[in-house]
Amino acid sequence: MDEEKFPIVLTAALPAGGTGKTPFIKVYGEWKARQGYKVALIDLDHQCSLTELYDIYETENTSLNLFKGGEVNFIPVEENIWLLPAHPNLQYEPARLRAEGTQNVYFLLEDWLYEHENLIKSFDYLLIDTHPDTDTLTKNALAISTAQIGVVMPTEKSTNAIPKAEQALIDLKTDTYDKRHKEERVTCELFLMGTNIEKVGKYYTRLSKQLMALISEDERFVGYIPHKELFAQAFSDEKQSIWTQLEKEAILKVETNQTFKQQLEEVMTEIDKKIEVLTWH
Ligand SMILES: Nc1ncnc2c1ncn2[C@@H]1O[C@H](COP(=O)(O)OP(=O)(O)OP(=O)(O)O)[C@@H](O)[C@H]1O
Ligand SMILES: [Mg+2]
Repeated sequence: MDEEKFPIVLTAALPAGGTGKTPFIKVYGEWKARQGYKVALIDLDHQCSLTELYDIYETENTSLNLFKGGEVNFIPVEENIWLLPAHPNLQYEPARLRAEGTQNVYFLLEDWLYEHENLIKSFDYLLIDTHPDTDTLTKNALAISTAQIGVVMPTEKSTNAIPKAEQALIDLKTDTYDKRHKEERVTCELFLMGTNIEKVGKYYTRLSKQLMALISEDERFVGYIPHKELFAQAFSDEKQSIWTQLEKEAILKVETNQTFKQQLEEVMTEIDKKIEVLTWH
């Protein structure tokens, strides 16, 4: 909560659709906001999923203007949380930027941040949600990030996307390497988080078991969020914060809900720890 510092920037990105990136951004944002930090969420996905989770259907002053120029409006959505909504036309931006031969095409967001330093420094966290790709907008987000969080579900499509994400980050670092000063301009680290790990009766499903084995041997994993209906519901019709749900007496009466709350807090804390190590210096 230091006014002089740039916020910690995290980007949820994995080139596979529907793996839980958007829910992660919302849950982690609420976790930090509840601790008193000021959190800005940027929706960079033209699907506008994060934006719609907050029932916002705004087409003016959206994240599209980060690239096209013009005003942007961080809308207060909850205590300590502001959202910069996405615009469906974000999908045409990578092609437009290429067609125009834009210079330093991976640092447009970084330039914008420096041009709006005062606004940006009023936040402690900047959390960016991306489209499931490794294209220019996602790379702009990674270029300013302390860490990328690849959210992985127990599906083949999802685990196959891990090396793709890894390669895209390496490519970005290579393409932007500062040869004159012999240093990386992009310092983002890749972390992974499992979600939706499922048990049928007493036993984990085959794919969940496989993902758990991967989690235990790959240090980039911060842990996993088990499958929970209550969690899924928080992102469907009701759209009520999972943390609000997990505060309710009636819900906490059920032991399995208490256990889930603990597991969720453990994963969030593990992310905090990994980020702390990266930002310590
Ligand atoms: N631990 C969990 N328990 C139950 N449901 C979960 C869990 N983790 C994720 N989900 C559900 O999985 C779905 C995946 O979310 P979503 O499709 O928004 O992911 P995404 O990665 O953001 O997708 P996209 O790639 O299209 O942006 C959500 O409906 C969410 O509720
Ligand atoms: Mg999403």
